Amino acid sequence: MQIAIDGPASAGKSTIAKLIAKNLGFVYCDTGAMYRTVTLLAKNNQVDYGNVSGILQLMDTHEITFLNTDNGQRVLLDGQDVSDEIRSEVITNNVSQVSAIKEVREKLVDMQRDLANDTNIVMDGRDIGTTVLPDAEVKIFLIASVKVRAQRRYKENVERGINTPLSTLEDEIEARDYKDSHREISPLKKADDAIEVDTSDMTIEQVVQKVSEIVNSHK
Ligand code: DC
Repeated sequence: MQIAIDGPASAGKSTIAKLIAKNLGFVYCDTGAMYRTVTLLAKNNQVDYGNVSGILQLMDTHEITFLNTDNGQRVLLDGQDVSDEIRSEVITNNVSQVSAIKEVREKLVDMQRDLANDTNIVMDGRDIGTTVLPDAEVKIFLIASVKVRAQRRYKENVERGINTPLSTLEDEIEARDYKDSHREISPLKKADDAIEVDTSDMTIEQVVQKVSEIVNSHK
């Protein structure tokens, strides 16, 4: 079974996808982490975020892998755990540029489809229901207001010792939404057969409950 969870930045996709995968005993795949890791590769090698051939060369010569541990899913770059580093502000604010590159998307989509082959999976991202797994049995599109998403990110940031003002986070989220939904290749878009869930006024438990009901109705 394939479960696709898409939606804009900070709508709660990864939190929900992880819990649903755990409850069902499915593999979880965070596709945003892949785009973030490619962005980190460019940063570490001082390759411009718009330098297509430079970034593709880096992708050909470095390895991105996922590891499922007791500490959740970890992302490894050449065997080194970069799961925390890819969440930094500099990566967050530049990942939209890297993820708009057609060739980068093609390579990562191939990897994502390979991962989804022959296994029950919950995959979250922006284009899972529309492009990566168009035949997924369950497609969820999670949304929430910009205000609520900025507040969630603010809380997460404070826990990690980052003190970006709430208004800056709102601006950043709006900018990323715009870039993600207006890029030429596989823009953020609800698949026609996806079920939209607005999480603005819901707790995590309520969203998990709602998504579980949708999954159960497809079993
Ligand atoms: O879900 P996230 O915030 O970690 O994703 C980081 C960026 O990666 C996001 O701004 C858009 C891009 N992305 C994408 O283009 N396609 C996906 N399937 C997942 C993420």
